[in-house]
Amino acid sequence: QHTEQFRQNLVDWFNQEKRDLPWRRTSDPYKIWVSEVMLQQTRVDTVIPYYNRFLEKYPTMQSLAYAPQEELLKMWEGLGYYSRARNLQSGVKEVVEKYDSQVPNNRHDISKLKGVGPYTAGAILSIAYNKPEHAVDGNVMRVLSRVLHIKEDIALPKTRKTFEEAVDMLIHPNQPGDFNQALMDLGAMICTPTSPKCLLCPVREYCTAFHEGDADQLPIKTKK
Ligand code: ADE
Repeated sequence: QHTEQFRQNLVDWFNQEKRDLPWRRTSDPYKIWVSEVMLQQTRVDTVIPYYNRFLEKYPTMQSLAYAPQEELLKMWEGLGYYSRARNLQSGVKEVVEKYDSQVPNNRHDISKLKGVGPYTAGAILSIAYNKPEHAVDGNVMRVLSRVLHIKEDIALPKTRKTFEEAVDMLIHPNQPGDFNQALMDLGAMICTPTSPKCLLCPVREYCTAFHEGDADQLPIKTKK
C-alpha cells in the first residue's frame, strides 16, 4: 500500500506539474528515441530547438536512415558527442531495413540497436509502448538513493542493477511512462543535486532521506 501511494502521489504530481516538452506531445517511438538520445548528455533547454529542427528535417525513420552523414552532423552541431548522431542513424537504418520501420517493442530486440543502452531502451518502451520497464539514469539514481536510502556508490557500474530492481518494484503498472518521466522531472525540479526542495516533494512522506534529514548527502558517488 505504501508502494501504491508512493507511485500514485508521484504520477499525480507529474500530471499537475510536468514540463510541457515537445516530445511529450507524441507517442511516436522514433520521436521519443530521438529525444532520449539528445537528452543523454545535453540539458533539456538546449535540446528543445535541436529536437524541433531535427524532426522537421527528418520526420520519419526513412528520411533519417538515408540522410547524408555530413548533413546529419550539421544538424547535430552544438549538441556535441557526435557518435550519438551516427549511432542513432545506424539504429534507425536497422529498424527500417530489418523491422519494416517498426521500432521493436521489447527489451531484447530494442537493446540490439546501435546506441540503445538499458536506459534508452527502458525510456522508449515505457513512454512510447506503455511497458513497465525501468529507465535508470543519474537523476533516477539520485532520487531513489534518497527515497530508499541506498548507499551504494553510483560511480560503480554494478550499482545500476540495484536501482533497476528498485524501479521494477516501484513502477506504476498502468502508467509506466508517466512514472519514469515523473522520476526524471522530480530529479530535475525538486530532488536536485544540491538544495533539494523536500518541502515541495510529493513523496517526502515515503522518503527515508527526508525523515533522516540527509538528502543532501546522497547519492554516494566516489570518483568522476
Ligand atoms: N531527461 C531524459 N529523458 C527525459 C524526458 N523524457 N523528459 C524529461 N527529461 C528527460
